[in-house]
Amino acid sequence: MLKNDQLDQWDRENFFHPSTHLAQHARGESPNRVIKTASGVHIEDRDGNRLLDAFAGLYCVNVGYGRQEIAEAIADQARELAYYHSYVGHGTEASITLSKMILDRAPSNMSKVYFGLGGSDANETNVKLIWYYNNILGRPQKKKIISRWRGYHGSGLVTGSLTGLELFHKKFDLPIDQVIHTEAPYYFRRADLDQTEAQFVAHCVSELEALIAREGADTIAAFIGEPVLGTGGIVPPPEGYWAAIQEVLKKHDILLVVDEVVTGFGRLGTMFGSDHYGLEADIITIAKGLTSAYAPLSGSIIGDKVWKVLEQGTDENGPIGHGWTYSAHPIGAAAGVANLKLIDDLNLISNAGEVGGYLNKTMTEALGDHPHVGEIRGEGMLCAVEFVKDRDSRTFFDAADKIGAQVSATLLSQDKVIARAMPQGDILGFAPPFCLSKAEADQVVAATARAVKTVLG
Ligand SMILES: Cc1ncc(COP(=O)(O)O)c(C=O)c1O
Repeated sequence: MLKNDQLDQWDRENFFHPSTHLAQHARGESPNRVIKTASGVHIEDRDGNRLLDAFAGLYCVNVGYGRQEIAEAIADQARELAYYHSYVGHGTEASITLSKMILDRAPSNMSKVYFGLGGSDANETNVKLIWYYNNILGRPQKKKIISRWRGYHGSGLVTGSLTGLELFHKKFDLPIDQVIHTEAPYYFRRADLDQTEAQFVAHCVSELEALIAREGADTIAAFIGEPVLGTGGIVPPPEGYWAAIQEVLKKHDILLVVDEVVTGFGRLGTMFGSDHYGLEADIITIAKGLTSAYAPLSGSIIGDKVWKVLEQGTDENGPIGHGWTYSAHPIGAAAGVANLKLIDDLNLISNAGEVGGYLNKTMTEALGDHPHVGEIRGEGMLCAVEFVKDRDSRTFFDAADKIGAQVSATLLSQDKVIARAMPQGDILGFAPPFCLSKAEADQVVAATARAVKTVLG
């Protein structure tokens, strides 16, 4: 095919890219990479560069690129029935089958799945349903949602508010009043360096209790959290955190929404993060790994307790006033069915656990003693390297030095490996496809060690 050499110009003139420095991009000061094709853990750009994608897109291409089984399922579905809606009881073979497959894999108290398109709209649905739930129960004042600083739950109005990262609030008039934030379960960044992990968990609990006391439990509807903080820094919770938090929520009749957009369908080496940490969710958010991003699809899995009240609500008020044209889109659903089947057939969750553990171990061996590496942490096929100016005093670099971004750029330019400079802090994140081999993990670790040496000595 002829190469269209106006593409770069068209891009800068016409395309509004998300999460991008708009002015620099329009001026041509930031890179413009056009991705052409991909296979396994590699993507290839139009200039023929083959890159090892150790972040699986945006931690979503879990089964790896170029899976013909999913492509065929999408093509078959498009040929047979590209679209029909799912309003007033309509469905397709794919959407009904997928809802059954999800419920078969979900914790046993889960009852139904509502389909959306992405993680943000799924969490938007969750908040609406929670507000509806409390109105039906005659508690119209019980509406606030607690989220954690550094949590990531999307970038809409409500979901951008739930997200606890400054960049997503600043100049957008967020967070909205109904969303309040509590301490991030981020032991490495604790304010009091003398705290043990157990003392830090107790501190998180007492911060939560104080927030609830200040606001009044009768005004708080739900708590939302990712099993492992993702975009906020890839931070597994300290030991005992979830058990202690759940106790507080139960005591105050506060629902728990577990956002499994990153962790759902295997990233931690278990089907759900809820299984991994013993979380008893009232609602579970799913997206990315549901289709491995072969088509946009998300879901809100609703537990029995909430579902019963939703049914009661429609008996009292008529059909639920919620839905999108593309809810349960057949093409997304067909991709989801093929994707979940492939995960089973290739035993990819167990590979995520095994090779993810190997990646974390070898990364620690290679970089654990580096004077500017403060912590290496991870769970399953998630790994993060956090950089510090000084280890002993745990002093961080000035944000303006952009150390994380420099290491990520060097990794790419030197060895063609993609890792993500996480948006807040100097943290290099890894979330490869589950099919990563040990040899590819070795390659990622060696390249990372080289990039760290180039930038930090
Ligand atoms: C935990 C979590 N929830 C929600 C979202 C939002 O999903 P989307 O970008 O598909 O709207 C993300 C996206 O990264 C996420 O990581």
